[in-house]
Amino acid sequence: MTAEIGTDIPKSIDILRNGGLVAIPTETVYGLAANGLDEIAVASIFAAKNRPFFDPLILHIGNRNMLNQLVSNVPQNAKKLMDAFWPGPLTFVLPKSTNVPDIVTAGQDSVAVRMPNHPTTLNLLNQIDFPLAAPSANPFGYVSPTSANHVFDQLGNRIDYILDGGNCSVGLESTIISFIDEENPCILRLGGITNAEIETIIGHVNENIHQNSNPSAPGQLDQHYSPFCKLKELKNANMENLQNSTILFYSPESNICAQLTTQREIFNFQALYFTENNTETQAAAHLFSILRDLDSKGLSEVYFEWAPNEGLGLAINDRLKRAMVKRD
Ligand code: TXA
Ligand code: MG
Repeated sequence: MTAEIGTDIPKSIDILRNGGLVAIPTETVYGLAANGLDEIAVASIFAAKNRPFFDPLILHIGNRNMLNQLVSNVPQNAKKLMDAFWPGPLTFVLPKSTNVPDIVTAGQDSVAVRMPNHPTTLNLLNQIDFPLAAPSANPFGYVSPTSANHVFDQLGNRIDYILDGGNCSVGLESTIISFIDEENPCILRLGGITNAEIETIIGHVNENIHQNSNPSAPGQLDQHYSPFCKLKELKNANMENLQNSTILFYSPESNICAQLTTQREIFNFQALYFTENNTETQAAAHLFSILRDLDSKGLSEVYFEWAPNEGLGLAINDRLKRAMVKRD
């Protein structure tokens, strides 16, 4: 099969009601969606992505009424965060209700839920009476897709339809916060909403971001978001290595970029930038498509500069750390 790319919501709904797969746009990345209450449909997501069954999925909803069918309790501080950030790039891990199939949660008692902030997908979600299970629409371990064409390039022969909603505005996956210990919410994944934004609403939150390759809790594997191109840290490079290399600077205004540019007489390099206007929102929005472009340009290695370690820069650097781990 070859997936069609289009903007047909009724057609998408029809496919989803019949247990099929549709790639959907969200503000973070494109998701590979199926009816989250249909075990067989959900199983086909894992097959299409080549994703291990131990890695649970996020359920996407279009309104708060649906939430009550999926979880058994919503703590007060979770409600406050939903009021502040939904629809938006914040996912909640909450105790699951019996309606949620085990395959969605990898057999755990908790389920991840989010309301995405994209008009097309919100429109679709509000016309169906089931949640959409949707991981990022990339083969397991590869860079997440931020456009309909990214999805087509990698999964076009494995899915029925790609609902085109343009380029993703945030470009990083949602932040995940767990309320399993109600009194001590804990951030499990850095993403589109910063810890500081969360803390202005509910005060201090802990962080438990998995960095090892055999996480005790499922999810954040070390090697993830990896292009085939090898990413090397610019700060560890010597001048000799940089001769005739490709360098991915954070921005044209970064100190190291300015420094190296003054030495262009002595050595030659090709410059790329995460952000042209030196903003972390633009760097986040462009991150994954830049990593993909390295592969489409056929580059085997590049040197890159880390984002500033603050705000969204922390989530960008988390993705870069994982992208550095070479694929098998
Ligand atoms: O922005 C996003 O969140 C995107 C868009 C499509 O919504 N989705 C996304 O899904 O990034 P995925 O499957 O690529 O990442 C979901 C993460 C995984 O690391 C998974 O382990 C974690 O969420 N997760 C899901 N359910 C969980 C649970 N019950 N407890 C802990 N982690 C969970
Ligand atoms: Mg993913």
